[in-house]
Amino acid sequence: MLDKTQAGQGSVTPRGRPDGVPVFTSPPLKSVRPPRCPPFVEVTSPDQLLPYLEHVAKRPYNHGLNACWDLQPGERVLLRVDNWHSDMVVQACQKILEKYNVIYEIKKIDRGPIPQWVGADEVQYYLRRTKELAEWMDMWEEIEKKKEYDKVLMGYGGPVLAERHIKIQRMPFITPEILASPAHTMPIEVLNAMDKWTWDRIRSAKRARITDPEGTDLEFTNHAEYWDSRREFYNPDLVSATWTGNEHFGKTYLPGHVTGRPWVFLPGKESGNGVIAGTTNHIAAMDWTQLVVEISKITQINEGGEFGRQLREVMAQTADIQYPTFPGKGIMHWWEASIGTNPHIHRPRKDFPSGFVNCLYERVRSGVIHMGFGTIISSMAERQAARAGHLVGHWHIHLYFPNYHLEREGDNEMLIENGRLLALDDPEIRKLCAKYGDVDLWLDESWNPAVPGINMDGDYWDHYAADPLHWVKTELEVCRNYHPMFMKMVGADDKYCQGAGADFWKGGCCNHSGHGHHALPGNCCG
Ligand SMILES: [Fe+2]
Repeated sequence: MLDKTQAGQGSVTPRGRPDGVPVFTSPPLKSVRPPRCPPFVEVTSPDQLLPYLEHVAKRPYNHGLNACWDLQPGERVLLRVDNWHSDMVVQACQKILEKYNVIYEIKKIDRGPIPQWVGADEVQYYLRRTKELAEWMDMWEEIEKKKEYDKVLMGYGGPVLAERHIKIQRMPFITPEILASPAHTMPIEVLNAMDKWTWDRIRSAKRARITDPEGTDLEFTNHAEYWDSRREFYNPDLVSATWTGNEHFGKTYLPGHVTGRPWVFLPGKESGNGVIAGTTNHIAAMDWTQLVVEISKITQINEGGEFGRQLREVMAQTADIQYPTFPGKGIMHWWEASIGTNPHIHRPRKDFPSGFVNCLYERVRSGVIHMGFGTIISSMAERQAARAGHLVGHWHIHLYFPNYHLEREGDNEMLIENGRLLALDDPEIRKLCAKYGDVDLWLDESWNPAVPGINMDGDYWDHYAADPLHWVKTELEVCRNYHPMFMKMVGADDKYCQGAGADFWKGGCCNHSGHGHHALPGNCCG
């Protein structure tokens, strides 16, 4: 495997290049997917955030990851935040709850000081987080029984209870930078249509192959037995075994998070084979990590620094445990390849990576795939394993430039190409979107990460993958403080930093908010 002495790159090499790390003669995506970053917008008062929240307040409810609060006069709403949320954002939320005449309560939980993250923290974080999510599920059931609230706004990931009186929706707004984005003024009709476009292609595909320039190449068969007879929802038997009590949630995709492989196992027929590799998880950039996957089981975890070391420890500890619904022993099984669908999500620069300002948010940018392995998040199967005293949790590797190939009825089609979700280019989606203004501005990504050796100059290993977090923190700092210079330095496409693109960002698309004024008075590019 790793031979630290073999790289031979001389003194400029921070660490020897391990086996399996991709080598390129030139950055393969420099011309097709150059870096993009929106201007850094200074927000100085909660009022500036209201036009964004107006959209969120009006969006019809769904249980997915796009904020869709659907605020109705007189309904009882609990907004649950933490001391890790910015006060200005919470104040803006309070104003919008008042404006919409809901009966609201804001509960603020003290989680203690805001931690600064490194990628390896994901291992412990998701061991703890699993327990917290199970407590949330119990809390929601309790609220449902007592009929205390009609709606709860909290959290920004994971399952919620579906088909109950109580409606759970998301609170993804941690900082002003996260909220002040067209991602949250994006017409929800268009986002929902892109979800469905993606889902329709995945469910009708017979086989799928996912590749990514950071080293992923994985295939699986999308067996008929994963599905009901019409291939519309997942097989009800598998759903009721895995998602007992929350079948309405588990039988289909989560809006904003389309399941690119079923989030159930098909014992005896699991067929995920290949490798998953990358440098980012839900918390932060981590050391380059490679997973070898055989029959959907992770048989080897290579490299990964401290992240890899801790994962290998969990793998060894759980090697002999049979988890409920799993196709074989051990916790390290691959169950997730979920796809984001919102083109205007971007990695926040201020405070990254700390508290909730981490990489969880960016997984919902259109075309980003997060691979997940471990127990299936907040499923009954996971809760049963926890009750039996087993270690539970799951972990991730993000793919930012994936290709997702589909095999449908003998035709090969692309779902995602070099990180671009092809729903953005679909004529029907574009026609639908035209109702809301400039299609070329709505249906394009605000952000592509700048990755040396992949989509900008530099050597993938020497200038990036040997210490990805160092690069990411550096580039975000420069991007935030020296924005126009940063764009030139990384060879970025400045579509959203000048002309109509900058106006679009400046305005937060006020034309469609029902507001007579701009969402934001200006930005550094204006
Ligand atoms: Fe996920």
